[in-house]
Amino acid sequence: MSKILIAPSILAADFGNLQRDVEMVNNSDADWFHLDVMDGVFVPNISFGMPVIKSIAKHASKTLDVHLMIVEPDRYIKTFAALGTNVLTVHYEASTHLHRTLQAIKAEGMQAGVALNPHTSVELLRDTIQDIDLVCLMSVNPGFGGQSFIENTYAKVRQLKAMITERGASTKIEIDGGVTNKNAAQLVTAGADVLVAGSYVFSASNPSQTIADLKKLANS
Ligand code: DX5
Ligand code: ZN
Repeated sequence: MSKILIAPSILAADFGNLQRDVEMVNNSDADWFHLDVMDGVFVPNISFGMPVIKSIAKHASKTLDVHLMIVEPDRYIKTFAALGTNVLTVHYEASTHLHRTLQAIKAEGMQAGVALNPHTSVELLRDTIQDIDLVCLMSVNPGFGGQSFIENTYAKVRQLKAMITERGASTKIEIDGGVTNKNAAQLVTAGADVLVAGSYVFSASNPSQTIADLKKLANS
């Protein structure tokens, strides 16, 4: 089994001490920075945009995993590439021409991700799975941190994993929303490769230790 990656979500960081929190992630066992961009249209919340990501990128020493919760994501592919994004994820529900969008992301030298809302069937990716580097399964409704994990996610992970294997694809499965030490092991057993964790990490009294524990649990 390949190594399971941990991606702390900066949405739950202390924005007044952003550099401190970025350094904490740099010095931790975490693998990626998960950066949530929300536009107040695709989701009922607005998070942060380019200037904040630019500041994070200046200090971050790990993979930048940008999750776009925005309409018309194609308009900003070049911009996020220029900011130093390594993995760029768009929502299936916001993409009219998903295949074209995936090619455009890769043409900018980034890995291409597709996020699915809890109500969206993984079956809808059957014809594009070989073009997708990462599928982000939303285990909460996107828009806010700190929500509780939707149990149906386990079944979606298993179904998606079977599809990836059947198609001979090398797509990674990322889980986003409500991830804690209570569901991490079961998610990995089901086929998850990347675990995003926001409030579970940043509301802990020792975030760095919490990342280390989660990483150990996921890889045990
Ligand atoms: C939700 C975001 C998540 C969020 C996860 O819309 O996509 O990445 O930050 O936060 P937690 O881990 O607190 O559910
Ligand atoms: Zn996210």
